[in-house]
Amino acid sequence: MSKTILITGSNGLLGQKLVHLLKQQNLVVATSLGSCLISDQSDFIYQSLDITEENNVLVIFKKYKPQFVINTAAMTDVDGCEDHKILCDKINVTAVNYLSKICEKFNSHLIHISSDFIFDGENGPYKENDHANPLSYYGLSKLKSEQVLQKSNCKWAILRTIILYGTAENLQRNNIVLWGRKALKEGQNLNIIDDQFRSPTLAEDLAQVCNLVIEKKATGIYNASGKDIMSIYEMVVRMANFYKCDKTLVNKISSATLNQKAKRPPKTGFILDKSIKELGYRPHSFEEGLTLLEKQIN
Ligand SMILES: NC(=O)c1ccc[n+]([C@@H]2O[C@H](COP(=O)([O-])OP(=O)(O)OC[C@H]3O[C@@H](n4cnc5c(N)ncnc54)[C@H](OP(=O)(O)O)[C@@H]3O)[C@@H](O)[C@H]2O)c1
Repeated sequence: MSKTILITGSNGLLGQKLVHLLKQQNLVVATSLGSCLISDQSDFIYQSLDITEENNVLVIFKKYKPQFVINTAAMTDVDGCEDHKILCDKINVTAVNYLSKICEKFNSHLIHISSDFIFDGENGPYKENDHANPLSYYGLSKLKSEQVLQKSNCKWAILRTIILYGTAENLQRNNIVLWGRKALKEGQNLNIIDDQFRSPTLAEDLAQVCNLVIEKKATGIYNASGKDIMSIYEMVVRMANFYKCDKTLVNKISSATLNQKAKRPPKTGFILDKSIKELGYRPHSFEEGLTLLEKQIN
């Protein structure tokens, strides 16, 4: 049966993937800041919505009464969150509180996206119930958003993910795979950190796991990342091999040389057993993800 699904942040990478996936079988109400960045706007509804405007969120709920809400909207610039803590809290925490209260009122199931940055990276890969200890304000805001849901009375699921990659239309933010692919193909020298380990996540995989949560009406916390754990340096070397580019152009550097405002966890990665067993999640390998991306770009 067709469901009404509200997506926030639909102009972002995950948001766009969700619109394309879910509009096939459901009534999708896509919302984001400004106008819609997806050019083919057939088969879904677009409404401009700032999730920090509680009354405007309420208007959308009254109009469409969504059974499911997927909150992808967030302030995702990790260093920017250190500089703009009030705005970060407003978007990443307070707005999630509004959404949870309104979801409770309308009996909507809220699916919220969280991050590996809630962990300090000392003991990765992590299980769902491992102890969180964020190192950055962004990570803290994501942890606080999880706590908002855990205390709320709405139906909720939290999907935690790591380094999303993929392509979509008119993206406002680059991702490491798109950036690395371009630089490698142009023969640029790349200085890449080898002391941070992650599981890059194909945006399509995360969209699929959101759909699995909807199909199973699942609640609780689920890890939802790629399955391969590697250093950022290894990620770019694997890309150089995949694109048949010169991997000697990829130089190892340490995180300290980047002088970034926000501290990053050294080693994250997720144990995916729960989402594989309970949701039927089947993430692609990194190279399978690159293959899919190549087809989309060409
Ligand atoms: N990207 C990653 O590597 C990563 C890793 C772990 C977790 N996550 C989480 O995964 C989710 C999706 O990430 P993503 O990479 O798809 O993010 P993204 O590409 O940055 O998209 C987020 C979208 O939310 C919109 N937005 C920002 N503030 C908003 C507001 N107040 N009201 C409505 N929309 C707003 C943004 O609009 P503008 O572009 O106009 O600002 C953007 O279109 C986020 O919750 C993020 O925290 C991402």
